[in-house]
Amino acid sequence: MASSTKSRKRVLSGMRSTGRLHLGNYVGALDNWVRMQDHYDCFFEVADWHALTTDYADTSRVKENSLEVALDWLAAGLDPERSVIFIQSHVPAHAELHLLFSMIAPLGWLERVPTYKEQRENIKDKDLGTYGFLGYPVLQSADILIYKADVVPVGEDQVAHVELTREIARRFNGFYCRAKDIFPEPQSLLTPAPKLPGTDGRKMSKSYGNTIMLTDPEPVVRQKLKTMVTDPARVRRSDPGNPDVCPVGDLHKIFSDRSTLDKVYEGCRSARIGCIECKSWAADALVRLLVPMQARRKKYEDNPRLGWDILEAGSERARQAAGETMNEVREAMGMSLGYEAPTNK
Ligand code: TRP
Ligand code: SF4
Repeated sequence: MASSTKSRKRVLSGMRSTGRLHLGNYVGALDNWVRMQDHYDCFFEVADWHALTTDYADTSRVKENSLEVALDWLAAGLDPERSVIFIQSHVPAHAELHLLFSMIAPLGWLERVPTYKEQRENIKDKDLGTYGFLGYPVLQSADILIYKADVVPVGEDQVAHVELTREIARRFNGFYCRAKDIFPEPQSLLTPAPKLPGTDGRKMSKSYGNTIMLTDPEPVVRQKLKTMVTDPARVRRSDPGNPDVCPVGDLHKIFSDRSTLDKVYEGCRSARIGCIECKSWAADALVRLLVPMQARRKKYEDNPRLGWDILEAGSERARQAAGETMNEVREAMGMSLGYEAPTNK
């Protein structure tokens, strides 16, 4: 790694490996990660153990899903030359740190995490009354702290997890670190997430079946746009509409250029354009974004070994960094060798 990156702040973030990504994942996270590579020393993890916290009963797609996520990252512009891109389960030290943290994580802290309560209430088709599910924010704390990350870019729903991470860091440092703290307290960096509606107008989400995937070919994108809901007040072609209450209008605000946006506002409010035309412009903007990504992805689809090689090289770099932290942790907790180990420095 270039020496200039040493002085950079370190970023760690991750996504659960639940398969191919959609535009919501791009706008809510990935696009921001790609830009962060210019300013930070970045670690991005495919969180396959996290996926198991809810989908533990069937692991037949875990490996494939990890690769799909990674390929979408590469397609969007994460650069393995600049960022460490790795698979969580390929860095077993995360599990060791998770175990040690679990000793000091009070149950009350975990039961109070808002996502825990919400998901227990909302997800009824799986039994989430497991040890792993309750402890999953502790695993996330280990993910973050094992790399001593300074900054964690996340969406709103994850801020409480970063807060818990800070509390665990503080507690660990308080118990075991005399001269110098081992763990910094990471800051969450809230990703400015514009409202991205799915084709039915609700928030774009895999569970609603309303997504546009990063891998959708052009005809599929155009077809999805055609069936997308619009301003309900525009029943007839001659009725004026309002892009501010129209999901297609929301897409334009995120993806279209200024002049298209002006045409949309003017034409919709005056009923001079029809929704079909307006949607085709939105589709144009999406296709312009997705085509280069899909071209980049194709190289890896044609040769899956390339993707796995990147993930393995990244995981090796991650194991190295994680290993250094674990040496400090074992030393601080009195679990290193009982005699002075010969140094190789
Ligand atoms: N829990 C995160 C999510 O569900 C994914 C994740 C795993 C993560 N490890 C992380 C995010 C570490 C930030 C930092 O979206
Ligand atoms: Fe929505 Fe465009 Fe139709 Fe206006 S013209 S209602 S912005 S799709």
